[in-house]
Amino acid sequence: MGHQATGAAAGLPPHVLIFPLPLHGHVNSMLKLAELLCLSHLHVTMLLSDHNHRRHADVESHFSQYSGFRIATISDGLPDDHPRVGQRSLDILTSLMRVGGEEFRRLMEATDALSGGGSRRRVSCVIMDGVLSFAVPVAKEIGIPIIYFRTVSACAFWANYSFKEVVEAGEVPLKGKDEDKYSYGSKPELDLLVTSVPGMEGYLRRRDLPGFCRVSDVNDAIFSMIATETRQTSLVDGLILNTFEDLEGPILDQIRKPIPTLYSIGPLHAHLQARLETDKKNRSLPAISLWEEDHACMAWLDTQPARSVLYVSFGSITLLSKKELLELWYGLVNSGQRFLWAMRPDSIVEGDGESFVVPAELEEGTKARGHMAGWVPQNKVLMHSSLAAFFTHSGWNSTLESITVGIPMICWPYFADQTINSRFVSEIWKIGLDMKDTCDRAIVERMVRDVMEVRKDEFFERARRTAELVKKAINEGGSSYANWNRLIEFLKSTIL
Ligand code: UDX
Repeated sequence: MGHQATGAAAGLPPHVLIFPLPLHGHVNSMLKLAELLCLSHLHVTMLLSDHNHRRHADVESHFSQYSGFRIATISDGLPDDHPRVGQRSLDILTSLMRVGGEEFRRLMEATDALSGGGSRRRVSCVIMDGVLSFAVPVAKEIGIPIIYFRTVSACAFWANYSFKEVVEAGEVPLKGKDEDKYSYGSKPELDLLVTSVPGMEGYLRRRDLPGFCRVSDVNDAIFSMIATETRQTSLVDGLILNTFEDLEGPILDQIRKPIPTLYSIGPLHAHLQARLETDKKNRSLPAISLWEEDHACMAWLDTQPARSVLYVSFGSITLLSKKELLELWYGLVNSGQRFLWAMRPDSIVEGDGESFVVPAELEEGTKARGHMAGWVPQNKVLMHSSLAAFFTHSGWNSTLESITVGIPMICWPYFADQTINSRFVSEIWKIGLDMKDTCDRAIVERMVRDVMEVRKDEFFERARRTAELVKKAINEGGSSYANWNRLIEFLKSTIL
């Protein structure tokens, strides 16, 4: 399997090509992986979509400090003006499945373009987003190993892996014809426990299955694609997951049965930070932003009492209808708690009804106790001493970022892996509450009061203990630390 070096390439480090699905959450965590590889003195080519590349000029400047880092680009096959948010973000996956194979083959064949005129060897290993299986035959033909990286939690990965059994057990589809998403809230049959995902029999309800199961037909294109793509993981040379043993150990053990070569190396952002500090490199984490960061919120946080603010953000893809916006906003204001709401400029659904006028009581409540922001430096916000809790869509990066700093969560999952992450937050780790399948001001108000007031100390104490486990995992002697070294050894062995 090794990729023998000849002539000028002898003595050069391994060259790893990383290809994330071109969505912010995926690119974000794989850039952390890229920087960790650079710190281990490997050469890295990061493959971005042209669209991603244009929006992430900051990637180039951040990585300019690493001489072994390069960017290559590929088309995602969608027109420039495609929105790439909400449910339509999944078009990126279907489009890439269509055009990606050919694009990827062309790129790999042009190895000279990636070897930088002799200063780098040809690509010696591919680390691929584990939903883009078109890379597998290409890598196998060239004769280089391919490792998958799944940017989701182990629990989400394992549920996706088990979709075949979930179908056989008749536990999907979850949706009837013509149902809207809030019909799930009033369907008691979705509270039945799932029996077909090994290891989760005691607590996973049908409504907690990954959002891909919310279809009326098991032949749905995205559901089938996720099932097939995930199942193929056992055909590659290893799997990297952005999680850690003390958080998801029992599920990781289940995954090891079909996929023995598993590297749990997360939380990647914290792991990277720890290695930067060990290296005495006074560098900050890559701030890879989709929009210009709104720093005024930090000054506002500075004026708030310790552990008093609820941070509200639903990530880089979630779309809110105006009705949802109002329910959430009333719930926040009626709770009487302080809040910082980071609202992406494109996060409100356009054109659903009349123009939106903010009710006076919301204006007043927000002025008194809240602050509205655009795209914020989330890690800095979560670390601020005034923070008390995070109202989140349960994206995996956000969940890990919150866990790392010991901040309890209120979960309002939107789609994909988020519906199962929120179940683990509330039922397994017990560091928050799960609001899935509802969007009602009274429920928001009650949950905010519960996490911020009534059960504040209980949640805070458990979140603090979970954060301790993060530190243990990523520092010398910890599981993620050891797994990282094991991965580097493997990557080095690919050029022997
Ligand atoms: C989604 C999924 O839900 C996620 O689990 C999957 O792995 C990738 O696709 P996304 O909606 O982007 O991702 O959420 P999340 O994974 O939480 O990532 C959002 C990232 O954007 C976080 O790293 C967060 O720190 C950052 N962010 C968000 C900001 O920096 N500022 C903001 O204002 C909002």
